[in-house]
Parts: sequence; structure tokens; C-alpha cells
Amino acid sequence: MHLKSDDARWGSMAKFFHWAVVILLLVQATIGLVMVQLPKRPNVIPWFNFHKSLGLTILLLALLRLLWRAFDRHPLPPLAMPRWQVLGARAGHVLLYGLLFAVPLTGWLFDSASSLRPLFWWDLVKMPNLTGGPDADLKPIAQAAHLWLFLALAAVAAGHAAAALVHHFVQRDDVLRRMLPGRRSLSTPNQESSP
Ligand code: HEM
Ligand code: HEM
Repeated sequence: MHLKSDDARWGSMAKFFHWAVVILLLVQATIGLVMVQLPKRPNVIPWFNFHKSLGLTILLLALLRLLWRAFDRHPLPPLAMPRWQVLGARAGHVLLYGLLFAVPLTGWLFDSASSLRPLFWWDLVKMPNLTGGPDADLKPIAQAAHLWLFLALAAVAAGHAAAALVHHFVQRDDVLRRMLPGRRSLSTPNQESSP
């Protein structure tokens, strides 16, 4: 098991963080979009609590992932990849990381500004209130920001996934394979795709 990444492939820690966050985001987005449509009755509260705890878990995973990344290597882009694409991919990844923090933080901010109930992470840890109490001015701003930043995350992630598929099926390089679970990447830094 290669925990750390090298020049040719992602290590299992980076893969774990990537795919765990993708799966949890899909669950989280579905719950978020459905729960706000439900009639406001007491039986929806557990869904809101679940959404908040799962959202804070995604925030924690994003933090741990960035920490791990700081000490990990980063596979090289394919040799044949033009510079604008390398820069575009990097900008996309920076944006994805930014949104991965901004979406849960605005959810937390909205919850704090509403101050309906104390916020608990899985009934275990009492989380601080970011606004120190109800804040009627901030509440609608945080609520709208949570939705719009989520939509931005969904759009950038869709473009990112499409780019991964283009790498695999059109450019036929190792970019997707080296992020998939298992040791599928057999070639050295994408020699196949070099001219
Ligand atoms: C990456 C993590 C998260 C994602 C992807 C996410 C996604 C969403 C989505 C799609 C909605 C529906 C928005 C709408 O239709 O107005 C929503 C609503 C909501 N989220 Fe999140 N959320 C995340 C994290 C959090 C966190 C950490 C909290 C609080 C601690 C939170 C609190 C809420 C609340 C209270 C609502 C209901 C807003 C309303 O009543 O209009 N979310 N979330
Ligand atoms: C919500 C969904 C997603 C998010 C937030 C996300 C986020 C990210 C981020 C931040 C990176 C950069 C990793 C780093 O440099 O530390 C990355 C890399 C990558 N992602 Fe995603 N991703 C998502 C979905 C997907 C999907 C669905 C696919 C495949 C179809 C995919 C394929 C890849 C690949 C192949 C890489 C490695 C790129 C390279 O080697 O430079 N991602 N992802």
C-alpha cells in the first residue's frame, strides 16, 4: 500500500480523501436539496441535524486533506499537456478546495445566525456559534451564499469530472486511472501521451 503520492500516481491517502469527499458530497447535496422542500414539522429536525453533522464532517475531511497534501507529493501533469491546460486544471483545483471550505462554512454561519438550537457534531461535540447569537441581517445573506456557493461547487465539479473523462477517453492518458482506487497506473509519468 502506497500511502504517499509520487511523480506518477496518487497515493492511497489522497485517493481516499478524494473519493470519500465525492461520495459524502453527493449524499449531502441530496439531503440538503430534499430537506428544504419538506413541510416545516418537528420530524424534519433530525434531517437538518444530520445534514449539519455530515457537512461539518466534510469540512473536517477537507482540512485533513489539505494538511496531508502539504506533506505529500503531487503527480506530474502528462508531458503532452499544453501549459494553458495545466494552469486551468490548477485553477480548477484551487477553486474546488476553496468551495469545499466555503459551502460548509456558510451553512455553519447560517445556522449560527439563526441560533435556533445549539449546534452539535453527531451529538458529541458542541460547536461554537460563529455569530455569538441570532443575527437577522446576516441570516439571509449566509442562506443565499450557502445555496449559490453550493451551485458553484456543483458546476465546477461537473466541469472537473468532464475534464477527467476527456483525459481518459479522448487524450487517453493516465490522469483518471492514477486517481482511481487500486494500482491501475502502470506507465511512468504518462509516457504514452508524450509526442
Ligand atoms: C459541503 C457541505 C455542504 C453541502 C454540499 C450543503 C448543501 C446544501 C444544500 C444544497 C442545501 C439546500 C439549499 C437551498 O435549497 O436553499 C443546504 C441547506 C442547508 N444547509 Fe447545507 N450543505 C453543507 C454543509 C452544511 C453545514 C456544515 C451546515 C450547518 C452546520 C449546513 C446547514 C444547512 C441549513 C441549515 C440548510 C437549510 C437552509 C434553508 O433553510 O434554506 N449545511 N445545504
Ligand atoms: C464533488 C466532486 C469532486 C470534487 C470536489 C473534486 C475535487 C478534486 C480536487 C480538489 C482535486 C485536486 C487534488 C489535489 O491536487 O490535491 C481533484 C483531482 C482529481 N479529480 Fe476530482 N473532484 C470531484 C469529482 C471527481 C470526479 C467525479 C472525477 C472523475 C470522473 C474526478 C477525477 C479527478 C482526477 C482524475 C484528479 C487528479 C487530477 C490530476 O492528476 O492532476 N474528480 N479532484
